[in-house]
Amino acid sequence: VVQPPKPLIVKETEVEVDDGKKKVTIFFGTQTGTAEGFAKALAEEAKARYDKATFKVVDLDDYAADDDEYEEKLKKESFAIFFLATYGDGEPTDNASRFYKWFTEGKERAEWLQNLQYAVFGLGNRQYEHFNKVANVVDDLLVEQGAKRLVPVGLGDDDQCIEDDFTAWRELLWPELDQLLRDEDDTTTVSTPYTAAVPEYRVVFHDSVDALQDNNSWSNANGHAVYDAQHPCRSNVAVTKELHTPASDRSCIHLEFDISGTGLSYETGDHVGVHCENLTETVEEALNLLGLSPDTYFSIHTDKEDGTPLGSSLPPPFPPCTLRTALFRYADLLNSPKKSALHALAAHASDPAEADRLRHLASPAGKDEYAQWIIASQRSLLEVMAEFRSAKPPLGVFFAAVAPRLQPRYYSISSSPRMAPSRIHVTCALVYEKTPAGRIHKGVCSTWMKNAVPLEKSVECSWAPIFVRQSNFKLPTDTKVPIIMIGPGTGLAPFRGFLQERLALKESGAELGPSILFFGCRNRRMDYIYEDELKNFVETGAISELVVAFSREGPTKEYVQHKMIEKALQIWDMISQGGYIYVCGDAKGMAKDVHRTLHTIVQEQGSLDSSKTESLVKNLQMNGRYLRDVW
Ligand code: 2AM
Repeated sequence: VVQPPKPLIVKETEVEVDDGKKKVTIFFGTQTGTAEGFAKALAEEAKARYDKATFKVVDLDDYAADDDEYEEKLKKESFAIFFLATYGDGEPTDNASRFYKWFTEGKERAEWLQNLQYAVFGLGNRQYEHFNKVANVVDDLLVEQGAKRLVPVGLGDDDQCIEDDFTAWRELLWPELDQLLRDEDDTTTVSTPYTAAVPEYRVVFHDSVDALQDNNSWSNANGHAVYDAQHPCRSNVAVTKELHTPASDRSCIHLEFDISGTGLSYETGDHVGVHCENLTETVEEALNLLGLSPDTYFSIHTDKEDGTPLGSSLPPPFPPCTLRTALFRYADLLNSPKKSALHALAAHASDPAEADRLRHLASPAGKDEYAQWIIASQRSLLEVMAEFRSAKPPLGVFFAAVAPRLQPRYYSISSSPRMAPSRIHVTCALVYEKTPAGRIHKGVCSTWMKNAVPLEKSVECSWAPIFVRQSNFKLPTDTKVPIIMIGPGTGLAPFRGFLQERLALKESGAELGPSILFFGCRNRRMDYIYEDELKNFVETGAISELVVAFSREGPTKEYVQHKMIEKALQIWDMISQGGYIYVCGDAKGMAKDVHRTLHTIVQEQGSLDSSKTESLVKNLQMNGRYLRDVW
């Protein structure tokens, strides 16, 4: 019997079609997967609506190997939709940064995108100063270069409900696409609203014997030429230390990863990404709610048994493992569920009343309730599942549509390779707070770090898959250039690295320029972290001046920006001599206030009007002399 040949398995996003259909490319710049999820959801719905067009979802990094290829390929696009997230200090996501740099810094290209019709949806958070900067900049530049904007740029706000913003923007987009992608003779109307199917992996259960080889892919990950989020490096925890005194009711951990012999390297000012695991208590609760055995050994697949794809909206699968391992490593269980997750839970709730209530919460009519009961109350996915006990999604649905992938956490590295070549130091504040609904929220990674067992205490030490993300938060190459550093709380982290670096440079004979560090904490007897080291940096001349603001010692709050005002003349002098300004820490409060204070200092000391002040500070930023590592 001759078997029919097996269908070729081609990734849907790679299929090139040339059958006269109109081609739409949907780009995404994603960090935690939301932009990618929206891009895929839009593609799914669009496919259902327009059979005369093809939709390709493309990672901006994978689109082109270099700048020339970006130019060459974009020139040929007729329809493009961009989903672009903005992070930190108005920065693009890692996978969009090469495109963004090329597109924004490139040579003058007049009107070269006349063939292109496009739409941009941005993902940002209004609490931050540069709300949706990346989306806005790309949107403006596209028009400037001749492309035709189909709908106003969508400004998704993660502080509210970004899913609703996406839905609203999509409703504006359809009428435009209807005109472009439907044939004149196409009389089908879109009267029946599209309802997205709940995405679902194909699950294969394996013998329990296989479970003995429970996947430990992280541990085999070492040996890659380049480590990144997908290929992290297993590193042992060498040291942990509490940085607050017992008088403090909070906690801040100093932790050192041992990277000796791994090939992993870093530079002062870089970030470390840490793949942490959920707490045992969190996993136990999830197991209880799912009602499945922790030893269930399974694998998930994005194709059907015959090899054809299941649809494009599935996140990439993880390797075969037990349910216990999957819940520890791959499921975000403590963030609030998205509306799409509520839909997925509703589809698998055996009690119709619970299904109805879940659907209501996810519907436009339940908008306020969702905002209040879920978002404002910071109800976790597990808390919501505990309220709807009849909702028992199968594993394929749970991992595809209910629990998002647990994301790596990023920390500013607090050491310098000149001092600690085989260690990566992290300075991490413990997240431990009561939510409005009364739950004690324990931050996943900070709690893991607090509980980590270091190698100095046991050979059975804790370890984590980690990787280094480069940053542009770097000291000037000329050591004589003046530097001003502002970093209260754990914002001190990269400056500890800077000062280690300067000390090492000094010891090797370099001449150091003037430098000032503004640090802030609550009370010198509680949270003055690294106090001895900082004093030592002053004594050894790694730093010229240390200024500390204590916010909860005297009758009034003293913050770093108040101390900056006291040193206004000195700051202005340093800027005038070509100095660099660095700010690290909280973006929503501190960095905004410090930014304003910097304007005040420049305006008053330089006797400038407000527009000259604005442009001076902007120039500092553009020239890389005012750098911010904020979150
Ligand atoms: P607080 O907790 O007393 O308000 C490190 O977290 C330090 O930063 C603390 O002393 C904290 O003070 C202070 N801080 C809080 N908000 C700030 C802001 N907007 N600008 C500067 N410092 C701030």
